[in-house]
Amino acid sequence: MNATDQWADVAHWWLLLGGDRRGELVDARTLAGGASGSAVYLIETSGEAGPKEYVLKVASHQTLRARANRELSFYRDLAHHVPVVVPKLVAAIEHSDGTCLLLESAGAAPTPEHWTSARWAQLATELGRLHTQTPTQWTRPPRQPTAEEVEDATRTWESLGHTQLLAPLWEKLDTLYAALSDLPTCLRHGDWHLGNLLTDPADRFVWIDWQEVCLGHGPEDLALLWQRAEFDGHTPPRDAMLAAYAEARRLPADKSLHRATVAAELLLLLIAWPPYLAHAPDPRRARMFHRLERLIDAWKH
Ligand SMILES: Nc1ncnc2c1ncn2[C@@H]1O[C@H](COP(=O)(O)OP(=O)(O)OP(=O)(O)O)[C@@H](O)[C@H]1O
Ligand SMILES: [Mg+2]
Repeated sequence: MNATDQWADVAHWWLLLGGDRRGELVDARTLAGGASGSAVYLIETSGEAGPKEYVLKVASHQTLRARANRELSFYRDLAHHVPVVVPKLVAAIEHSDGTCLLLESAGAAPTPEHWTSARWAQLATELGRLHTQTPTQWTRPPRQPTAEEVEDATRTWESLGHTQLLAPLWEKLDTLYAALSDLPTCLRHGDWHLGNLLTDPADRFVWIDWQEVCLGHGPEDLALLWQRAEFDGHTPPRDAMLAAYAEARRLPADKSLHRATVAAELLLLLIAWPPYLAHAPDPRRARMFHRLERLIDAWKH
C-alpha cells in the first residue's frame, strides 16, 4: 500500500469505529503488516482533550480474520482477568470488510540488551502468574503440527546436515509431547516473544498481540521467547527464569518441569524453526544448532 492508500484505509476504519466523535485524524504511520492484508498503524488524533495516540490493528484479508477475531475475544472476555498489563481496547468492529481493533498506545519496544538477570526473571514471573489461569470459556487447544509439516521439517533438517543427530528424536515425538503434558493445562499467550512485549513509562511490561492465545502446558511460551531472543543475539538466563516461573506458577521446580521445558524447546526447534534456519545467516544459525545439541544432551539425562 502506498501512503495515500494507507491514509484512506485508516480514515475508513476510523469512521467505521465512530472515531469522528473522539477527534480528528492528524497522522498515521504503519507499524507492521501490509502485504498479507493485515496492518497495524500508529495514529495521532486531535480532539477537545488534546492530541492522542492510538494503535489501529486491521485484518481485512479473509485468512487473517480468525486470528483477529480471537484477539478481539481476548480483549473482550479475558483482558480484565489476566494478571499482566495489556493495552486498553478503546473500540472494535467486526465488519464485512474485516476486523479492526483500536487500542491505546501503550509503550515502546523493550531494550533487552540492557536487562539484568533480575529483569529477565521478572518477565518469567509474569508468565508464571499468567499460567496460573485456566479460563473455562477459553477452550481452544494449541494447534498440533500435521504429519506433512513434520515431514517437511525432517527434510529441511536433513538438508541442514543433522540427519543422524535427530533420527532418534523423530521416532519419539510422542515422548516429547508426553513430557509436556505432565504439566497442568493453562492459558498461554501463544506468540510470546520480545516483539510482542512493550515497556510503559513506568517501566512495566505491557503484553500485546493476543492473536494466538490458547490453552497449553506453559513451557511452550518460554521456549519461543528464549529461542527467538537467542536467535537475535540475546542471552536470556534460562535457569533463573525457570526458577522464577515455577515459583510464580506455584509449581515445584523439579525434574518434571525441567523435562517439560526441554521437550517444549525441542519440539519448537525441530518443527517450527527449519524454514527460518534454512535461510538464516551465521552466527544466528550456528547459535540454534548449538542450542539443538545442548537440548538433545539435556533430554538424554
Ligand atoms: N498497543 C500498542 N501500543 C504501542 N505499540 C503497539 C501496540 N500494539 C502494537 N504495537 C506495535 O506494533 C507492532 C505490531 O503489532 P502486533 O504485534 O500486535 O501485530 P502483528 O500483526 O503481530 O505484527 P507483527 O507480525 O509485526 O508481530 C508491535 O510489535 C508493536 O511495536
Ligand atoms: Mg506481533
